[in-house]
Amino acid sequence: MSANPETNAPQGFIAKAVSGLQGWFNARAPAFGPFYKKHMTGYFAPKNFNIWYIFGVLSLVVLVNQLLTGIFLTMHYKTDATEAFASIEYIMRDVPWGWLIRYMHSTGASLFFIVIYLHMFRGLMYGSYQKPREMIWIIGMLIYLVLMAEAFMGYVLPWGQMSFWGAKVIISLFGAIPVVGGKLTEWIMGDYLPSDATLNRFFALHVIALPLALLGLVVLHVFALHEVGSNNPDGVEIKKGPKGNRWDDHAPTDGVPFHPYYTVKDFFFVCCLLMLAAFIIFFIPNVGGLFLEHDNFTEANRLVTPEHIKPVWYYTPFYAMLRVVPNKLGGVLTMFSAIAALFFVPWLDRGKVKSIRYRGFWFKVALFAFAFCFVWLGKIGSGPGTDIHETYLGRVLTILYFGYFIFLWVYTYFGLEKTKPVPERVTMHE
Ligand code: HEM
Repeated sequence: MSANPETNAPQGFIAKAVSGLQGWFNARAPAFGPFYKKHMTGYFAPKNFNIWYIFGVLSLVVLVNQLLTGIFLTMHYKTDATEAFASIEYIMRDVPWGWLIRYMHSTGASLFFIVIYLHMFRGLMYGSYQKPREMIWIIGMLIYLVLMAEAFMGYVLPWGQMSFWGAKVIISLFGAIPVVGGKLTEWIMGDYLPSDATLNRFFALHVIALPLALLGLVVLHVFALHEVGSNNPDGVEIKKGPKGNRWDDHAPTDGVPFHPYYTVKDFFFVCCLLMLAAFIIFFIPNVGGLFLEHDNFTEANRLVTPEHIKPVWYYTPFYAMLRVVPNKLGGVLTMFSAIAALFFVPWLDRGKVKSIRYRGFWFKVALFAFAFCFVWLGKIGSGPGTDIHETYLGRVLTILYFGYFIFLWVYTYFGLEKTKPVPERVTMHE
């Protein structure tokens, strides 16, 4: 038995082969080892993470699923307005395992938004957007914007009724912009209605431009996070606390190496997510028209308008805002402002305390009211929009939605918040 050249310990055949391979690799790619260490074994994450901290990794998993299944769908999909719908049917019926790949992709899209909304809510709960993490939040918001565009363009590709009419309604919104609106709408569509030209450009953006942008932004997001370190459910900066732990004398005492301590926990939750995904894919792939709408199983027809045109569930809160405002330009501005407002949260919140655990009572009420309004608006946005009482309710909920941002600033800027004392070190709830 030979010995390890570094430790002089006896080495078996496999260990010898692995360390030999490592040596070979390190000699040729010397930057890889330190990079791996910085972001995995040498990245010290707070030891008090709770379940809310799994959604970042779950978003990564869903992103990879979308990229991989997307590649296989592209192999059989036809980018042509006369063939697109039939090519999806062909994937579903004739391509071996095509139905599975397609359902993995369509279910993945909805799961992506579920995971992202929970991830964003965690950020709002624990003040993860506050100094020094504003950059992580801003990059996250850019990801959210690109993701919405990515999903919208993907939805147009099957060229079903809802693809066509959804595209028409959403692109026509740009027509509300004074002076340039009409020309801009035409420029985006490449025609006067969604057509073959629209389908081709949306395909290009959906399969290459936007995924590249997403990937780049996700890398920046994680780098920005690893620069300043993770927040945690107590909102305590572990880097400012005592130093030295059993792995490293200079690392924060309240941190543990991301790998293997969090990778193993994340692995468990990834399995749970995969089980949920499998259940949906195998038993209820359309989720009653929520993940894949009934109208999209009929080919696009520019002469027949579906009874209710509505977007997929993850856009419906914003769609509801668009509909309840009586003026078209007003509706468009309200909808875009609702998304834009989230960008400014790091500067609207002047509070000194990060975590909801130690924040004032009214902060908690406002945050849950905000989430409640968002969900209810989503429900209104997915309805037919013909009930006047629902329209009034939608207006109240829209005002409350914006009220959250105003409240956050007033409450924290004028020092009205009565916070609880924040502990010096992270706390463990076992
Ligand atoms: C493809 C989409 C995204 C991916 C793959 C992703 C990935 C991650 C990962 C892996 C983490 C570290 C683990 C964790 O804290 O959960 C993280 C943290 C974070 N993300 Fe995202 N993220 C995405 C979108 C977003 C969005 C849309 C926002 C908000 C606008 C956001 C805001 C944050 C914040 C503030 C943190 C730091 C959390 C903390 O330290 O408490 N992310 N993200």
